[in-house]
Amino acid sequence: MDVEKVFHMTGGVGKTSYAKNSSLQKKACDKVKHIILEAVEEVYLATTPKSIGIADLGCSSGPNTLSIIKDIFQAIQSISHKIMMHRRHHPHHLISDEFRVYLNDLPTNDFNSIFKALPEFHRLLRQDKNKDNNDGLIPSIFMGGYPGSFYGRLFPNSSLHFVHSSYSLHWLSRVPPALYDKEGNSLNKGCVYISESSPEVVQKAYLNQFQQDFSLFLRSRSEELVVDGRMVLIFLGRRGTEHVDKGNSFFWQILSRSFAILVSQEKKRQHNNNSSNKRMTIERKHAKKKKEERKEKERRT
Ligand SMILES: C[S@@+](CC[C@H](N)C(=O)[O-])C[C@H]1O[C@@H](n2cnc3c(N)ncnc32)[C@H](O)[C@@H]1O
Repeated sequence: MDVEKVFHMTGGVGKTSYAKNSSLQKKACDKVKHIILEAVEEVYLATTPKSIGIADLGCSSGPNTLSIIKDIFQAIQSISHKIMMHRRHHPHHLISDEFRVYLNDLPTNDFNSIFKALPEFHRLLRQDKNKDNNDGLIPSIFMGGYPGSFYGRLFPNSSLHFVHSSYSLHWLSRVPPALYDKEGNSLNKGCVYISESSPEVVQKAYLNQFQQDFSLFLRSRSEELVVDGRMVLIFLGRRGTEHVDKGNSFFWQILSRSFAILVSQEKKRQHNNNSSNKRMTIERKHAKKKKEERKEKERRT
């Protein structure tokens, strides 16, 4: 499967969309929001850029991405305000008047849903600014969608000050090839995760793929971040050194079973199609033969 071409969350804002089913991810991000804002403050004070570049990697199509961007924007506004108030103590600090936001996900992501929410997002920012009676400059915000895999370069050299990624980095770039034997049979029989019955080779296959992917991710970001830039990466992990994910294994079991049911339904459908195709071919041949026999009989009489 070519993950880059086919993988995406359910777009739009319907009942089954990611936008309507991402409160769990929001909760996780909210739990560490103080760490995100602390890191943003640090990078801002360390680099004091005129134009600050922020990226959300694996932004998807729900409200979570704009929510965290809003928090980051407000945190920077608040530090800028403090610097302005104490100008004498920070004579060399520049105030950011340009805010560049890069929203990244795989190409099949529903970026349009985010773009449609932008006018309301800008309206809310202006409203908050007026509410705070904050009389400093309103920075210009330039936002764009950046389709592509974060397992590789996405942005120009030294263009980012802060990288945020939440609930995305546990998606590997591909199904680890070492999960299959030479004939292409799965070594992790009937499982799509590391279960207690999985052989050791399965754990190694997932680990190697993660190491490969994560190294490429870090190498790519190291080119794109400015010196003193920061990243906050939130992704699923596990407690302890055991590879079997006991905490979430219940979910993986349900997922495995659902896949197995889908595969067997598809096999049955293909089998039925093949059988009815065969039946139709036989019936057609039979009718043709009968027609020819009839013609031959007519010719003779
Ligand atoms: C569960 S969503 C998380 C979305 C959002 N960050 C949040 O917290 O709600 C994971 C997102 O990561 C994206 N993703 C997975 N692998 C990716 C990759 N290699 N490059 C870019 N995005 C990727 C998926 O397409 C999906 O939209």
